[in-house]
Amino acid sequence: MIKYILILFISVSVYAKNDWGKTGHRTIGEIASKHISKKVSKEIKKLLKGESLAYVSIYADEIRSNPKYDSFAPWHYVNFEGDKKYRDEDINPEGDIIQGIKTCILAIRDKKTSEKDKSFYLRMLVHFVGDLHMPLHAGNKHDKGGNDVKVKWFGDKSNLHRVWDSDMIDHYQMSYTELAKNIDIISKDKIAEFNQGTLVDWAHESRALAVKVYKDAEKEEYLGYKYMYHNFPIVKNQLEKGGVRLALVLNEVFKEDSTWVASFLENK
Ligand code: ADE
Ligand code: ZN
Ligand code: ZN
Repeated sequence: MIKYILILFISVSVYAKNDWGKTGHRTIGEIASKHISKKVSKEIKKLLKGESLAYVSIYADEIRSNPKYDSFAPWHYVNFEGDKKYRDEDINPEGDIIQGIKTCILAIRDKKTSEKDKSFYLRMLVHFVGDLHMPLHAGNKHDKGGNDVKVKWFGDKSNLHRVWDSDMIDHYQMSYTELAKNIDIISKDKIAEFNQGTLVDWAHESRALAVKVYKDAEKEEYLGYKYMYHNFPIVKNQLEKGGVRLALVLNEVFKEDSTWVASFLENK
């Protein structure tokens, strides 16, 4: 009996290391679906057999319970040390979110990839572009992206990673459709600004936010209304940015003659 309790405890703590919660991922998928072209929307509908981007956005988390997919686990994040840049770090031979996104994009664009595999990599891509915009998915190596930084969330046990993945979003108590509707009020200029940069630039942007998140967390361990007030606007901006950028990625990935894809994937 004790053995089973122990196993249960260990599995719960392993799976506690999660991502943007369901609402965050779905919000990004929903926003993206409003920014993709009609042509891409049709292609995606065919590949996903009618399922929406919001619906498939958590697929990469769901399959984590199946050991068959263990090799994809490191694709949800990229860890850094201090203020190092991606190219200064040893590339994780087991993969990371940057290599993961790249693999998904190349697989979808490869004419030899089967429809079934294209559908798989599309689901994974939708998820990982979302994860890339959660600041602590470009976190520190030694604390597992803030998973080891204990905090109190309105008095309850939590950790810094979870606060950013889901505690703040859940506290806001809004559905993903309502969130998407209210966050996604954006000018053409802002979209153009979001859509600049390479994949590695986007990771560095999250890294810079993560550095600030860590610094602020040193000041207080009890996080509540004040933390929400100062940080939820950042969460909302990241969800919007993630959605708009996911649409850009999808619009280009399904464009046969895209020149954008190659420059986006350059490791600069
Ligand atoms: N596990 C180890 N590092 C992680 C990170 N940065 N984000 C999520 N899970 C992790
Ligand atoms: Zn996470
Ligand atoms: Zn993830």
